[in-house]
Amino acid sequence: LLWSAQGVTDPAGLRTAPSAGALYPLELHLVVGEVTELPAGVYRYQVDSHQLARVATGDRRTTLSGAAFGQSWIARAAAVLVISAVYDRTTVKYGRRGPLYVHLEAGHVAQNVALQAVALDLGMTPVGAFDDQRVKSVVEMADREGPLYLLPLGRT
Ligand SMILES: Cc1cc2nc3c(=O)[nH]c(=O)nc-3n(C[C@H](O)[C@H](O)[C@H](O)COP(=O)(O)O)c2cc1C
Repeated sequence: LLWSAQGVTDPAGLRTAPSAGALYPLELHLVVGEVTELPAGVYRYQVDSHQLARVATGDRRTTLSGAAFGQSWIARAAAVLVISAVYDRTTVKYGRRGPLYVHLEAGHVAQNVALQAVALDLGMTPVGAFDDQRVKSVVEMADREGPLYLLPLGRT
């Protein structure tokens, strides 16, 4: 699922989803609740090595559900993929058009994950209704990043 979102497909570092100018402004965190062989916690996807780095331990799904205005089903997803952006990576080249490109890219990534989820017989619903600061706090996101999308995943 993470590879479909931002996996590297080419020795030059190109990825599974298109990116304006190949500047790759998006970052991925995974809030894990019930995943085989992956303890509950928050992880950050490391694109180059295709590995997860643990950011925090413990099940934070209920807190994340609270950050999404109490959408209770988010707390029952096995895991939630959080897409965030570092806008500067794109605006440094594209200026005022940069934020548009970043948002379009998040849509590409979400669609890749949706398709991969279906291929794995899993469900995914994209979530845009949440409080930015609270989501940042739940996943311990860097200040320079802003959350764009939550992708709860699980068996249907
Ligand atoms: C940008 C965006 C934000 C969304 N935010 C939410 C959300 O916060 N909560 C939710 O339950 N669904 C959310 N959805 C999913 C839509 O409600 C859903 O796609 C729509 O009802 C059509 O259903 P379908 O995708 O199952 O065909 C969002 C979809 C998009 C594209």
